[in-house]
Amino acid sequence: MTIIFMIPLDKLVIEGGVPLKGTVMVSGAKNSVLPIMAACLLTESACKISNVPDLKDVITMVKILRSLGAHAELEDGVLSINAKNVRNHTADYKLVSTMRASFCVLGPLLGRFKKAKVSLPGGCVIGARPVDLHLKGIKNLGVDIDIQAGYVVATSRRLRGKSMFLGGDYGSSVLATGNVMMAAVLAEGKTIIESAACEPEVVDLADFLNKMGAKIKGQGTPCIEIEGVKHLRGAEYSIIPDRIEAGTLILASAITRGDVLIKGALKSHLGALIDKLAQMGVKVKDTEAGLKVKTENKLKPVNITTLPYPCFPTDMQAQIMSLLSVTQGVSVITEKIYPDRFMHVAELNRMGANIMREGPHAIIEGKKFFSGAPVMASDLRASAGLVLAGLAAKGRTDVRRIYHLDRGYEKLEVKLKLLGARIWRERE
Ligand code: UD1
Repeated sequence: MTIIFMIPLDKLVIEGGVPLKGTVMVSGAKNSVLPIMAACLLTESACKISNVPDLKDVITMVKILRSLGAHAELEDGVLSINAKNVRNHTADYKLVSTMRASFCVLGPLLGRFKKAKVSLPGGCVIGARPVDLHLKGIKNLGVDIDIQAGYVVATSRRLRGKSMFLGGDYGSSVLATGNVMMAAVLAEGKTIIESAACEPEVVDLADFLNKMGAKIKGQGTPCIEIEGVKHLRGAEYSIIPDRIEAGTLILASAITRGDVLIKGALKSHLGALIDKLAQMGVKVKDTEAGLKVKTENKLKPVNITTLPYPCFPTDMQAQIMSLLSVTQGVSVITEKIYPDRFMHVAELNRMGANIMREGPHAIIEGKKFFSGAPVMASDLRASAGLVLAGLAAKGRTDVRRIYHLDRGYEKLEVKLKLLGARIWRERE
């Protein structure tokens, strides 16, 4: 007899229609902390990282570091990591397949130990997501790469710096830039990465590495220069605020016609979103206390194309689609990073939206309102888009499979509740 154990899943229940009001604090950036945790493998000394969000993905990275032999502990938003006793250089499929960001232990393991065996992460719901750019960049540093039974087996007698072009068909890659940077900091000589990703999270990683004693210049531009050093030391560092969480909260305020002050968010990281919102009739004002969101009653439709930073982020695509679905007129979203990242379209249509997908485009004919419905989250940012739709909907929305949301948003429902939303967690 086979006994099947079902793990109970959580869902979020939302009774929409409440304009959000009050102040909310943005957490540390998920996409910064994950590679920075991997970077701690580069030194035998202790590192202390603060402003760390309490997220499932952070816990997964803690497990990966521990599986390699490192000490890693998260307490009250502070991560203590010591990789002195790392003896294992294999990152297992079971962990890597649950979170792509774990692939970036490859660079630091190679930098410090000159060998690494890291599982290939595999596909994911938002698209194929290859790692060819990571491997191309790492090979350029004088590393032999072999694919064996689903693992990247990488070895090198000595890593040597090199000039390389790291752009791909979809532009620059955030984690490939990070991976190569982390391998190159301990390589001999100079590495130049052209078409490097310019995202603030790449800058955060480079700043952390520099605090450890690395010599990196040009972070935040498409040309990063790394002068290899012999040794890195431990460092203390505080993670930047999460621009995607900040953007999601801005949209939560806008979609409910609320009045929210978002503390800790950096306007300079949100330029493309704020510019589009201004065209729609949502003003985001930078005040001393934080970002203040003011939304006109009648918004205008806009066209949006997702592209690498500083252009409109793909990680905000699902959330802005929710706002455009209740903005009268026709808007078009073109997804240029992950052309298949549209799993939320069918779910938003179940809530009364009128969105037609045509290849990498979504054509949205804005309606007056959403009507609440049971919906299913397919990935992290799609979940956030559905929560926003639920906040604006008439009636009750159940967002199922929110384990995706828990991967990347720290206590989102608690934050929204504090702003007055009628939202709670239930077991499915
Ligand atoms: C990071 C973010 C993710 C975000 C994405 C794009 C983290 C932990 N995750 O993911 O939230 O959605 O940036 O902003 O930081 N590509 C290749 N070959 C590669 C690598 C990427 O073709 O080797 C392609 C991808 O399929 C995609 C594009 O390049 O079309 C950008 O992807 P990339 O920047 O690498 O995404 P991630 O770094 O994985």
